[in-house]
Amino acid sequence: MKVLIVGGGGREHAIAWKLAQSPKVEKLYCAPGNAGIASVAECVNIGVMDFDKLTAFAQDKKIDLTVVAPDDPLAAGAVDAFEAVGLRAFGPRKNAAILEGSKAFSKDLMKKYNIPTASYETFDSAEEALAYLETADMPIVLKADGLALGKGVLICNTRKEAKAGVQTLMLDKQFGAAGNRIVVEEFMTGREVSVLSFVDGKNIQVMTSAQDHKRAKDGDEGLNTGGMGTFSPSPFYTKEVDDFCRKHIYQPTVDAMRAEGREFKGIIFFGLMLTEKGPKVLEYNARFGDPETQVVLPRMKNDLAEVFEACIDGTLDQMELEFADNAAVCVVLASQGYPEHYEKGYVISGLERFEDQDGYYVFHAGSRLDDQGNVVTNGGRVLGVTALGADLKEARTNAYKAVHWVEFENKYMRHDIGKAIDEA
Ligand code: AMP
Ligand code: GLY
Repeated sequence: MKVLIVGGGGREHAIAWKLAQSPKVEKLYCAPGNAGIASVAECVNIGVMDFDKLTAFAQDKKIDLTVVAPDDPLAAGAVDAFEAVGLRAFGPRKNAAILEGSKAFSKDLMKKYNIPTASYETFDSAEEALAYLETADMPIVLKADGLALGKGVLICNTRKEAKAGVQTLMLDKQFGAAGNRIVVEEFMTGREVSVLSFVDGKNIQVMTSAQDHKRAKDGDEGLNTGGMGTFSPSPFYTKEVDDFCRKHIYQPTVDAMRAEGREFKGIIFFGLMLTEKGPKVLEYNARFGDPETQVVLPRMKNDLAEVFEACIDGTLDQMELEFADNAAVCVVLASQGYPEHYEKGYVISGLERFEDQDGYYVFHAGSRLDDQGNVVTNGGRVLGVTALGADLKEARTNAYKAVHWVEFENKYMRHDIGKAIDEA
């Protein structure tokens, strides 16, 4: 079959790499893709929000399956747009992508269906939010309701910070309309775990666990980023935690969406916090995580195209997911200055070192080919270097060996990805 992937980051590279291994996939396109994706798919210069051009392209090329990977097009109804012209697309429809697209929606859903999460209040007016903060317990968490590139969450230690946060989100509108409404939430402590799952509307199949490192600098200092590195599995995601989540979180979420008339097909990414009182949902995402995907898919044994089809057809209960009994670590190589100001256009060398190296992968997040045919940096996050190992420690050693195979000016990385492994 012919497959089109919508997106152009490290996550999409990992998806493309995995799909390229499927005997079912005869031709792979990616819009817009990047220089790394170009080694496994034909890149098409169409933006992820340009639904008219994307659907016209898919019709023209007789695409059998389109995979919509990023949150923005999903929330804006990309899957609906493909379906409207009679094409198959993988991902939640607009009415289900709201699970990620509105924090107020997802919090209300969890409350209504007794899915464990932090207690919260929702505010449409800055005045009311400020009044509430006068007596609320600190620390407290403020979240812009809408999509804000993972950056619309403010952890506030003091009342003063919290009030300033309301100003930032609701009055200064730092994240635009995403901040018209905010969720004010109880601050939780514990280990964070990411669990990705495939959902077919009714059934859910959970993938292996992972952990992200969201802060820019070593020791979890610095600004929040899209993610600076990941490892999988999480040693803190025990059988007991898994049993609890299956019973109280995973299937209940799928059932809740169905009960609301918002049948969810696609990926649900559960951001969990393992608190003293048990696992609680920090957030839902309606898509693969980035860079979680870069450590989860290399460990998956199934044919990804088959799993995508089963989700669309509602036959996920007839298949079993299989993951290798090993571990993976991904270290993101970013541009110095990310997530704020950084330069682009530097030549990347050494990429060929990854060819024919079993268990080592370089997934491109922000790269492009320049006029001379060089692969150059083209984003804050540039590459994700993933390595497998028999266990987490070996995978980490391997990943930190391979980060030196590639060079580019202003290369920046965290040196402590997977440090938590030592505490397990
Ligand atoms: P989110 O985009 O909702 O995942 O939030 C981003 C990050 O903020 C999470 O990965 C957590 O580290 C942190 N966070 C979000 N909500 C809470 C909470 N209620 N308590 C403590 N930390 C939180
Ligand atoms: N790595 C976190 C995310 O994809 O949202």
